[in-house]
Amino acid sequence: MSDRFDTRAGFDAAAADFTALGRHLWNPIGGATVAVVGPRPGERVLDACCGTGASALPAAQLVGRDGAVDAVDVSGPMVGELRRLAAGVSQLTAHQADVAGWPVDGYDVVQCALGIFFFPDMTAGTEYLVGRTRPGGRVALTIWRAGAMEAAGRYLGRAVAAATGGDPPGERSRHLIDEINTPDPYAAWLAGRGLADVDVTVHELRLPMTPEIAWLVIMGSGYRAALTKLAPDAVEQVRERYLAALVEDGVTELDATTLIGFGRHLA
Ligand SMILES: C[S@@+](CC[C@H](N)C(=O)[O-])C[C@H]1O[C@@H](n2cnc3c(N)ncnc32)[C@H](O)[C@@H]1O
Repeated sequence: MSDRFDTRAGFDAAAADFTALGRHLWNPIGGATVAVVGPRPGERVLDACCGTGASALPAAQLVGRDGAVDAVDVSGPMVGELRRLAAGVSQLTAHQADVAGWPVDGYDVVQCALGIFFFPDMTAGTEYLVGRTRPGGRVALTIWRAGAMEAAGRYLGRAVAAATGGDPPGERSRHLIDEINTPDPYAAWLAGRGLADVDVTVHELRLPMTPEIAWLVIMGSGYRAALTKLAPDAVEQVRERYLAALVEDGVTELDATTLIGFGRHLA
C-alpha cells in the first residue's frame, strides 16, 4: 500500500525478522483470523498473502492430515521461510505466486490476513479471492483498523529523513483502504464483493514499544522497504533516531488493532 517504497523488496528483505516479529504481531492476528473462519478437519483452505504462515500454519493444524492448505505469497524469501517452518506439515504447501492470478478454486475457506490492500486494484483482487471459494464457502479478510501502525511509520519516516538529509515524508496519497477501515464501512464494502452473512470482528491489539519490539516492527514488516536502499551505517542512524524520538515523546505502545471481515461466498 506504500507509494513511496518498493513494497516487494521490503517484504523480501524482512522475511527472517518477519518471523521474529510474528509472536508479538502477526501470530495473534493470524490466529484470530483463523478462529473467525474456523477451518474444519478435511477442508481445503487458500491462505492468500501468507507471509511466513501466521494464519496458514494454524489453519493447517485445524484441517489435519486429511485437509489441505495452499499458502501463496509473491515473495520468495517469505515462502522459503514458511517452507522451513512448515517442514513435516504435509497438508500445507507454500507457493510463490501472485495470488491475484492464482488459478485454483473450489476452496472451502479463503483467508487473507493483512494482504488485500497490497493488490494494485483492491476491489478486483478481493473479488477474485472470494471467487476462489466454492459456493457457500467461508472467507476471512483482515485489514488494519484506522490509525493502526501509523505511529511507527510516522517516526520511521522522520528518522529516515533526518539520517539521510531528505525531506520529512508527506502524507501518503489516499487509498480505498482509508475509506473502509472502520467496521461499518468495511462490512458494507465486503457485502458488495459477493459475500453474504458479513460480520466484522474488531481484534484489539497493542504492542509494548520496548526498543526490541519497536525496531522489530520496522525490520519485520513492510516498513522495511524504507531501509532497503540505505547503507548499514545509515540504517544504524535511523534506528538510533527512531528509538530516541519514541522515548522523547513518551510513546510506549503501538496500536495494532485489526478488523477481521467474515462472509460466505454467494455465488
Ligand atoms: C503484511 S504481510 C502479511 C503476511 C501474513 N498474512 C501475516 O499476517 O503474517 C503481507 C504479505 O502479502 C504479500 N503480498 C502482497 N501482494 C501479494 C500478491 N499479489 N500475491 C501474493 N502475496 C502478496 C507480501 O509479500 C507479504 O508477505
